[in-house]
Amino acid sequence: MQVYGLLGNPVGHSLSPRIHQAAYREFGMDACYATFEPEPADLEAAIEGARALGIRGLNVTIPFKRDAISFVELDELADRIGAVNTIDFDGDRPTGHNTDAIGARRALEHHDVTLDGARAVLVGAGGAGRAIAFALSDAGATVNIANRTESRARDLATEVPNATGHGLSDLADLLTNAEVLVNATSVGMDEDDSPVPAETLHRDLTVMDIVYHPLRTRLLRDAAERDATTIDGGWMLLYQAVAAFERWTGQEAPVDAMNDALRAEIE
Ligand code: ATR
Repeated sequence: MQVYGLLGNPVGHSLSPRIHQAAYREFGMDACYATFEPEPADLEAAIEGARALGIRGLNVTIPFKRDAISFVELDELADRIGAVNTIDFDGDRPTGHNTDAIGARRALEHHDVTLDGARAVLVGAGGAGRAIAFALSDAGATVNIANRTESRARDLATEVPNATGHGLSDLADLLTNAEVLVNATSVGMDEDDSPVPAETLHRDLTVMDIVYHPLRTRLLRDAAERDATTIDGGWMLLYQAVAAFERWTGQEAPVDAMNDALRAEIE
């Protein structure tokens, strides 16, 4: 049996096992996806132990995404982002990847959003914001980062090509000419709140939220009311898993089956 898994703490509510197991079922793979909660001090031992046991792949989530970079070889994208959410054991050493960034880009591409040459506004400059900033920039977008703590947005913008950093008070100006808006803050998670004033949204925008609990966040409802295109947080969650599956197996993922499994949990 092929074993895959997730390292994090806590991981009890993770949807990853269901999403990946749907793919194994669809392809008739003799595989399973387990969750592990190592102590922070045991992270290196956990990764090395996984390699020793023949585990095929690991996802990494909070609080280990940054710390894990010390214990793996990094691919180029994960190295720039400085965080890892996917590890493979194909080489001599475990190799770390960042499929959060790939997932954000693929979620937008799935909805036919053209990023090359687009003006994008990214709200949030934390861990998720960082990955998405590089993803948007790599895809050819101009990335205007707005964050509650403006200095964090400015610092991130110095690292990301074609990016600028702002406070949230610049959002109205930034959105006037933008085609893409991504919320990478936790605002809206389990609360009826939005990081973006509703009146700044317009019909020429595609609005993607990374919050997936609830799926119809206040931001997405405000966007839909103004006839903007909306992409819920399930899509990035889906495509980071799709990218991890494809990295580990070398096979094109059964996206529809994985999406059905995810939506069965959170619709
Ligand atoms: P993650 O890894 O999920 O991105 P994080 O690194 O803690 O988590 O970052 C959370 C992001 O949400 C940050 O951009 C944070 O803004 P600050 O840098 O100013 O803290 C943003 N955020 C969290 N709560 C917020 C709120 N109530 N209003 C606006 N932004 C908020």
